[in-house]
Amino acid sequence: MEPAQQEDWEAVADERELHATGRALVWVKGRHVALFKIGSRIYAVDNRCPHAQGPLEDSLIETVQTEEGTHPAISCPWHHATFDLVTGEAQPGSETDQPAQVFPARIKDGKIWLRGVTPRQEPPKL
Ligand code: FES
Repeated sequence: MEPAQQEDWEAVADERELHATGRALVWVKGRHVALFKIGSRIYAVDNRCPHAQGPLEDSLIETVQTEEGTHPAISCPWHHATFDLVTGEAQPGSETDQPAQVFPARIKDGKIWLRGVTPRQEPPKL
């Protein structure tokens, strides 16, 4: 990774934190972000489900068919809305049509890197 590119990316976890379960929850800029390692790829999503703020870290892993082919997806543990992990799109028949917020993620030098995580504006729920 070039130095200029590294400025855009933020290391948020060691890859080995995902070895046991293939997932992890990290705190980045005032929000929890759920990480999922599926195969050799890493996916990152804001942990709050857009339907009723269920914990997406506890989702089931699924797949969805898209125009670009098969994408990995997650099914929220509370009301089972399904979100494409590549685009964040809620799938037809879900409890919401709001997308989950996904972030570009990569593995480099044994660390998980994210890009584009903006600070959460609202105060945390009590
Ligand atoms: S909170 Fe996730 S589907 Fe309802």
